[in-house]
Amino acid sequence: MTGAYFKYKGINFPVGIYTPETLSYVEKDFKVRDDDIFIVTYPKSGTTWMIEILSLMLKDGDPSWSRSVPIWERAPWCETFLGPSSIMQLADPRLISSHLPIQLFPKDFFNSKAKVIYVSRNPRDVLVSLYHYSKIAGHLKDPGSLDQLLQDFLNGEVPFGSWFDHIKGWMRMEGKDNFLFITYEELQEDLRGCVQRISEFLGHPLEQAGLDSVVENSTFPAMKENTMCNYTLLPSTLLDQRQGAFLRKGVCGDWKNHFTAAQCEVFDQAYREMKQGLKTTFPWDKDHGDT
Ligand code: A3P
Repeated sequence: MTGAYFKYKGINFPVGIYTPETLSYVEKDFKVRDDDIFIVTYPKSGTTWMIEILSLMLKDGDPSWSRSVPIWERAPWCETFLGPSSIMQLADPRLISSHLPIQLFPKDFFNSKAKVIYVSRNPRDVLVSLYHYSKIAGHLKDPGSLDQLLQDFLNGEVPFGSWFDHIKGWMRMEGKDNFLFITYEELQEDLRGCVQRISEFLGHPLEQAGLDSVVENSTFPAMKENTMCNYTLLPSTLLDQRQGAFLRKGVCGDWKNHFTAAQCEVFDQAYREMKQGLKTTFPWDKDHGDT
């Protein structure tokens, strides 16, 4: 679409939604509570999916909350928070979403027992998802060609900066009790197993029926039908779903339908260089010989 970006501490943010004042306030003054649960992601990595899972889990699988309250009210964004807002009205434990890189995250978090669930996804699929989303989201720049976006992505010239810096920053939390790293690919492969892992991490056990319901109501088809999470309540000026759905394909490996051989090579080489220093082997690494 036609959005524009401004830089804050070297990172791109869409104009109109974020401001330097809000970002500075959130970093320095956002008060974190010990029982807060943060869903942290790089954009297009499965944020909406994780919010839906958690909304269902906190209600023991009862879908009435996730079917009656818009997702942005169930798990508001912390980076658009400035003073009193709906975040303050949320019942504990609060679900709070964020795309912030770790260095811009509320400082108060690091002195708290609040939890972060970090969802990551094959950056190639993130790029393809972002490409399609950029065409329908009013706050994002027209992506141009996939080739153009690929260059911008590898240079970190996209909203929330470099995918590599984002994950490298957050992986410094790996091994901490209040940090769960989970991938979109794991959710795809074994949703039930992931829901169990999340429920253990949160200390929120589920009965069999509750577990069944969380899984059933957070599948791609179930979420596509749910107007409280498919973003069809937003006006087309913000999200023009006549041009393409927010819940677009919901699969792993769609990049293979988009990348040319040359683009694969460019991406793979950049990935290998930029991944240096990250010890984790990700589920997608085996497809690219990057183990
Ligand atoms: P695609 O564009 O590849 O379809 P985010 O919420 O971080 O913006 O991520 C959006 C991506 O997650 C979209 O990817 C969307 O379809 C996918 N997604 C959301 N819910 C999903 C679900 N239940 N199952 C699989 N994919 C899902």
